[in-house]
Amino acid sequence: MSIIDTLASRRTVYALTKELPVPVQTVIDTVTRATELVPDAFNMHSQRVAVVTGARQDALWDAIYEAFGGKVAREKIDGFKAAAGTVLYFTHEPTVTGMQEQFPRYAENFPVWAQQSNGMLQIAVWGALRELGVGANLQHYNPVIDEAVRDLLGLPADWRLVAQMPFGGIAAEPGEKPAEDVSARVRVYQD
Ligand SMILES: Cc1cc2nc3c(=O)[nH]c(=O)nc-3n(C[C@H](O)[C@H](O)[C@H](O)COP(=O)(O)O)c2cc1C
Repeated sequence: MSIIDTLASRRTVYALTKELPVPVQTVIDTVTRATELVPDAFNMHSQRVAVVTGARQDALWDAIYEAFGGKVAREKIDGFKAAAGTVLYFTHEPTVTGMQEQFPRYAENFPVWAQQSNGMLQIAVWGALRELGVGANLQHYNPVIDEAVRDLLGLPADWRLVAQMPFGGIAAEPGEKPAEDVSARVRVYQD
């Protein structure tokens, strides 16, 4: 598949199951390889990921439900819990602050670049999973869940949670995307 084909097939899939079309190790290898390949400003390697599957996947979404004290609908959380796993994306804060100290002229840019490279990793994984026939969606329950996630997984406090990506078998494809005149967002200059 070309990158464009992959982007065209990637969608937000909410109807996810625990039945993956590939071995879970293939998903883990794919996430690991994407983390290795996706660029970062000054090659600083600020991105961190955690792949959560099995019993810990269920525990993760129960902990997320608890962190909101019942303020998020149980059915909504159960939809994510029904997925085979979740990729959690983080920024390693000491890497970013270390770069700010080393290159004070760009100090303001490093946190922005870290977010940008994290987004690049997210789209790379999202697309690569889709190539495997694995569906995924993107959630942002941080920062409310940060402490609960850290406790559940025993993660360092300096891993700042950025996004949560439940993934799994595809129970139902989303509907067609609304048509868009994309030319309004693209200007071309050729002379
Ligand atoms: C940066 C970013 C943040 C998003 N946050 C959420 C979110 O918190 N919850 C959610 O259900 N979808 C979230 N989405 C998914 C978008 O709503 C979705 O990608 C968009 O509507 C286009 O649909 P598609 O993914 O099927 O192409 C997010 C997407 C992006 C790129």
